[in-house]
Amino acid sequence: MTRRRRAVPPGSAGARRAAPLPAVILGSGIWHLLRGRRGLRLSRGEIGETPFGPSRPIFSTVLPGGRRVLLMTRHGEAGYDVGAWSVNYRANLWALKDRGADLVLSTSACGGIDPRLSVGTFVVPHDLLDKTTRRAKTFFEGAGLGIVRHGQPFCPALRAALAEGLAAVGVRHRLGGVYVCTDGPRLETPAEICSYAREGATIVGMTVAPEFALSRELELCYATLSWVVNLAEGVVPRPYRPDLLFEGMATEEELAEGDRAAARLPEVLAAALDRLSSDRACDCRRAMEHYKQRGDIGEDFRTWVKRT
Ligand code: HPA
Repeated sequence: MTRRRRAVPPGSAGARRAAPLPAVILGSGIWHLLRGRRGLRLSRGEIGETPFGPSRPIFSTVLPGGRRVLLMTRHGEAGYDVGAWSVNYRANLWALKDRGADLVLSTSACGGIDPRLSVGTFVVPHDLLDKTTRRAKTFFEGAGLGIVRHGQPFCPALRAALAEGLAAVGVRHRLGGVYVCTDGPRLETPAEICSYAREGATIVGMTVAPEFALSRELELCYATLSWVVNLAEGVVPRPYRPDLLFEGMATEEELAEGDRAAARLPEVLAAALDRLSSDRACDCRRAMEHYKQRGDIGEDFRTWVKRT
């Protein structure tokens, strides 16, 4: 069940009052795992009307342990209705910020490039290679804004909280890694994976860019919790299987292992958020400070983007 919600007008009382809330963006293949009898209970979804079009529906839910979060799926609630290459990343992030989010924890299924990674392992990448070419990458088209540093593409405070959350829950994980983001829809060739490995990539996926950079433009803390659902093309020989996800890049056992890991996501996210302090030490929430100091923009992000 969804309804539409108009953006709060810039400078209005509603714009000033919104209480900060964590937001979670769910990647592919996990929605069905988190619903069901013992799954997450959701509010009615609200589609945000944004200068970039409608967002995915935003739900409110309570994670294990009682923390309320905003929740959104990238690809749809029924399955994989919206491909990574068609996601309206700008509308989604703008709408989450408009609803009061001050941080985004995203989840992202990935392929393992480092052959030491096994399916079902959680990874908290610290860096990223953006190979996407056909996606809107800034809120500031036609404006001289948005030249912001990416020495730490993922919020270090969120990464530290994820690290502690993963350890507390006790699931297999790897801290650090380089996520290479490809355009899709096709999967990579073995030569591409080889080349990304030489460039330092350890995991591959299709969703984290430009989400990470758009979050920073809105001064949202952002990190992704990836989990390995297959080994990338050419890492291990795998026969073609048209009956399986990714046509045999993961075996049936591995797919089940990936699902088992994904089902632990709410616990891990809850444990991470419990360990995150509101006065976290990071620069994400002042990413646009330079432009504010120069007088180019004001405090209310809704006034930063002018679209008709
Ligand atoms: N390649 C790209 N995206 C992915 C993969 C992959 O192997 N696995 C999960 N998402």
